[in-house]
Amino acid sequence: MKAIIDTDPGVDDAMAIFYAASCPEIDLIGLTTVFGNVPVEMATRNALHLAEMLGRPVPVAQGCARPLNDRGWKPVFWIHGEEGLGALEAPSPQAAPHPRHAVDFLIEQAERHKGELVLFPVGPLTNIAEAIRRAPAFARNVSRLYVMGGAVHVPGNATPFAEANIHNDPEAARIVLDSGIDTVLVGLDVTNRTNLSREEFAALAKRSPVHGGFLADIADFYIKLYESRGQQGCSLHDPATIVAAMHPELFDLEDGDIAVSLEGETVGQTVIGRKAGRQSVRAAVDGRTDAIIAAFIEGIARLP
Ligand code: BDR
Ligand code: CA
Repeated sequence: MKAIIDTDPGVDDAMAIFYAASCPEIDLIGLTTVFGNVPVEMATRNALHLAEMLGRPVPVAQGCARPLNDRGWKPVFWIHGEEGLGALEAPSPQAAPHPRHAVDFLIEQAERHKGELVLFPVGPLTNIAEAIRRAPAFARNVSRLYVMGGAVHVPGNATPFAEANIHNDPEAARIVLDSGIDTVLVGLDVTNRTNLSREEFAALAKRSPVHGGFLADIADFYIKLYESRGQQGCSLHDPATIVAAMHPELFDLEDGDIAVSLEGETVGQTVIGRKAGRQSVRAAVDGRTDAIIAAFIEGIARLP
């Protein structure tokens, strides 16, 4: 499977990138970056660092810096750390970003790998929406999206109604979810229940000292935030999208049009409905969460 992760690293984004790299079925042909957890320049720098840690050439193309309709987006340094990767100091990757803008890179790669490119958007959907708007063929060329976003039958995390990725650019989410691209929406309904504790990260670090050890280090800061909210461990939000592609049997999907609220206190809310006609979106509403966590652990444990 040719895959691109569209990402705003971000602690759990790093988990998704490493887990994807651990899957022999996935040919990771690029990372595209977007504002979200951190400013886009920081997301790009972090993605370059993570790509270097993989020890293989993975191009990183920088994308959009602001939402389509900016309602005052701000980075969330208190969640993902001052530099976006927990307590890690600013990394200094050697490689430069890809010369093309992420939106152009996405359009080109979708054309080149027509019908086989799978995208994993795990940040705000701005780059994907721009690609849909700019290139009429893009939506036809992409094989499938596994989106980390939404809260269908559960409360949000950015607000009581909205999950953070959708909340950060609801207009983009609406464009993507209405595009007709075959989409699996993996949101808080499942990811809130895929939690990994500090002790489990420490055990993973023993099995995978380089990559598991790095994730254990950066997760420490992220876990503190969850603990301050009375939760044990941190959620594997972004890696859950990759697990959904690798192990679809672990997720229960509900068909339905997803309406995204653009106004008022519910802005960014994802509401599932049942309009007549072809449904292109399926939302993960339940899953075998212990097995999802185990798949992630076994994947990372394959890395050095
Ligand atoms: C999502 O928001 C971001 O903070 C995380 O990286 C994840 O993509 C969870 O709501
Ligand atoms: Ca993310």
